[in-house]
Amino acid sequence: MENSRVSFSSLLALFLFVLFSVSNAQLSPSETRILFQVQKLLEYPQVLNGWSNWTNFCYLPPSPSLKIVCTNGHVTELTVVGNKGSPSHSPKSSSGKFAVSSQTLSQSFSLDAFFTVLTKLSSLKVLSLVSLGLWGPFPAKIDRLWSLEVLNVSSNFIYGQIPREIVSLRNLTSLVLADNLLNGSVPDLKSLGQLQELNLGGNHLGPSFPSLGNNLVTIVLSNNSFRSEIPSQLKNFKQLQQLDLSSNKLLGPIPSSLLSLPSIQYLDLAQNQLSGGFAANISCNAKLKLVDISQNLLIGKLPSCLASKSSNRTVISSWNCLSGLSSSSQHPYSFCHKEALAVKPPSKKKEKTSSIKLGLIIGIVGAVVGIAVVLGLLILLVIRRSKSTTFHVGKYDGSAADKMSVRSSSVPTIDSRRVPQTMRSAAIGLAPYRVLTLEEIEDATNNFDPQNLVDEGNQGRLYKGWLRDGSVVMVKSVKLKQKNLPQNLMQQMETLSKLRHLHLVSVLGHCIVTYQDHPSTATTIFVVFEHISNGSLRDYLSDSRKKDVLKWPQRMAITIGVARGIQFLHTGVAPGIFGNNLKIENVLLDDSLTAKLSNYSIPLPSKVGSESPLHGQDTNSFSSINAEKEDVYQLGVILVQIITGKLVTSSHELEELRLMLEENLAEGPSQLRAVVDPATRGTFAYESLRTTVEITINCLNKVASSRPSIEDVLWNLQYSIQTQEGWTSSGNLATHM
Ligand SMILES: *[C@@H]1O[C@H](CO)[C@@H](O)[C@H](O)[C@H]1NC(C)=O
Ligand SMILES: *[C@@H]1O[C@H](CO)[C@@H](O)[C@H](O)[C@H]1NC(C)=O
Ligand SMILES: *[C@@H]1O[C@H](CO)[C@@H](O)[C@H](O)[C@H]1NC(C)=O
Ligand SMILES: *[C@@H]1O[C@H](CO)[C@@H](O)[C@H](O)[C@H]1NC(C)=O
Ligand SMILES: *[C@@H]1O[C@H](CO)[C@@H](O)[C@H](O)[C@H]1NC(C)=O
Ligand SMILES: *[C@@H]1O[C@H](CO)[C@@H](O)[C@H](O)[C@H]1NC(C)=O
Ligand SMILES: *[C@@H]1O[C@H](CO)[C@@H](O)[C@H](O)[C@H]1NC(C)=O
Repeated sequence: MENSRVSFSSLLALFLFVLFSVSNAQLSPSETRILFQVQKLLEYPQVLNGWSNWTNFCYLPPSPSLKIVCTNGHVTELTVVGNKGSPSHSPKSSSGKFAVSSQTLSQSFSLDAFFTVLTKLSSLKVLSLVSLGLWGPFPAKIDRLWSLEVLNVSSNFIYGQIPREIVSLRNLTSLVLADNLLNGSVPDLKSLGQLQELNLGGNHLGPSFPSLGNNLVTIVLSNNSFRSEIPSQLKNFKQLQQLDLSSNKLLGPIPSSLLSLPSIQYLDLAQNQLSGGFAANISCNAKLKLVDISQNLLIGKLPSCLASKSSNRTVISSWNCLSGLSSSSQHPYSFCHKEALAVKPPSKKKEKTSSIKLGLIIGIVGAVVGIAVVLGLLILLVIRRSKSTTFHVGKYDGSAADKMSVRSSSVPTIDSRRVPQTMRSAAIGLAPYRVLTLEEIEDATNNFDPQNLVDEGNQGRLYKGWLRDGSVVMVKSVKLKQKNLPQNLMQQMETLSKLRHLHLVSVLGHCIVTYQDHPSTATTIFVVFEHISNGSLRDYLSDSRKKDVLKWPQRMAITIGVARGIQFLHTGVAPGIFGNNLKIENVLLDDSLTAKLSNYSIPLPSKVGSESPLHGQDTNSFSSINAEKEDVYQLGVILVQIITGKLVTSSHELEELRLMLEENLAEGPSQLRAVVDPATRGTFAYESLRTTVEITINCLNKVASSRPSIEDVLWNLQYSIQTQEGWTSSGNLATHM
């Protein structure tokens, strides 16, 4: 009895606890996924071992090397301290350069991609990633962690400049970038009004002393390449307790105000080239505990507050040229005098060329070659191509402009007679075509998060993504082997940029990336498509409620849209695009039920070398006619399903439906009416139905050459829709509904 009551109450407690943790401290699934991505991108460091799908990240016991704090289901603190070394403790190669070593993450690591993932933890206030072997240039996208208060990435291999964007982290109180490979000048940090702790020690920063906000409590700039005077403005730093400027090349006098700063406790100016003497009457702040001015070029006597022996204050002043001290630990006066004269502040011009020695040149190649380089290469290819075109056709006058506007004279360009004006301007409403950066693509797909993977076809993977402007897109990645890089890639990209039409899922832009992965170089092209929200024609026809929305006029509009999309693919771009994989699931509908063809054949060779000959432009005139008629046949299959409302799943079913249409058409109006999808009853003009059924039967002709051209199909459908409109406007629709 007693036992059961105890267990009941403990069960109740457990239940309440679970309830509480679910409602209050359960990490959101998306952030849980991000943490798993972090684990993976950090290459499964020991400290993150043992995470499973059952790990409640918000209740991990905090340790010095791992701490995760959640607030309202969001990670607000992430501290991970690994056991990899830092640059100063890593052996240098014989050339004096650091190479990616056992202390760094592997060559395939990308700090930028890692930060892309981290920035999704949008509530992060404390981010400490220490001794994890992070390497790469400091990503400017750090500014997206806008609520960050503590950033600690010490003891890694981050190189290049500190990005200016860091000053947008307005709530930053601690900025710790110590023991990395950062170089260049420090951006103006004055606007970081909340900043209390700044530790940039152990980098290659300089030469000018950084501009800092005067609320700082701790400033560590030691072991860098600062080579300027200590600014007298430091006298305004009323909160400053710790100032470590050791091991730089600072020069000029020590501002006397430093020793008497109201909060100063710890002052390390050792190992610089500070010169001159102290005024005798300088006073020190009472709390000053340590002063290290050793290994400078100081002369004269120490001020009394430094000279008098005090048990509470340590003063290290060896290896200057100070008088009144044991000469065994001081240089002669002439040494400092000579050296101080030799030291000149760097002139502004020299700053750029000043020899900030850099430990590291990245021997890494895993990274991405810039788009500019690729484009350069492409332009070369284009020039080569247009040269050969010149050779064969003799049409180019050789001007640079002509070389750039890629046209192949062997294939007819857009025939304006065949492409009505309305078609060419139909892509209105889309953002201008543009080339995107890899970063944007990574961002949009959350670093190719498997959760965003929609499809994997033989032309590549398809991801859903979100651009920074908030628009939803689909991103298709197409991998090309370098040796398969077509000579006419530039032409293909140009064609790609023209795939914008009212009745296509249009191409918004692309991104070309070349990975220098051994053993072979590979190029990936990301094609960014618009995202069509409302589902496919298949979704509509297979759902009885949705089906009801599609009355005959709507179906005719969809039919014409599909045909116009096909016509555009065939004749609106040069060379035409055939073999377009036309099926009802690839006909997408937007909010206004406008039909958009998706999954059509984009004019890029995929990694699968043996593409069907229907794809691309290496089709001779014979097979391209066949390919055109193949699309017409598939349009016929779509039409059958639109008319009958029945989904075709086999060629047998298709044949039955075709025969039924043929027979009922022959038998007369009432029989033909009977084959139509009941959901459209009473909404169609018989003439419209009859015309549509006729053209459908023709599209499904077994002999390809007997099928109508896409223009014929369009003409008939247009006639059909006209008769329908005439019928509707004379009031028939209303009376039948
Ligand atoms: C976690 O769950 C996902 C599917 O929900 C599964 O694919 C994955 O393997 C699981 N991981 C672990 C570590 O159990
Ligand atoms: C910065 O801190 C203030 C005060 O704590 C807070 O109100 C504000 O929301 C914070 N800003 C960001 C971007 O987190
Ligand atoms: C940053 O990390 C280092 C190494 O773990 C630690 O000593 C230091 O206290 C940290 N600083 C902050 C502000 O978190
Ligand atoms: C910083 O280092 C990079 C190589 O890591 C080098 O290319 C660049 O010139 C350096 N910048 C400065 C200002 O020294
Ligand atoms: C500065 O560098 C020296 C020698 O490389 C090293 O002994 C010392 O610990 C470093 N100090 C800091 C604060 O990084
Ligand atoms: C120290 O003496 C100089 C003149 O020798 C004077 O100008 C300065 O104000 C004095 N400073 C203090 C803190 O007494
Ligand atoms: C030294 O410190 C002790 C306690 O910390 C204090 O009582 C004493 O006054 C200090 N002496 C001086 C000279 O500041």
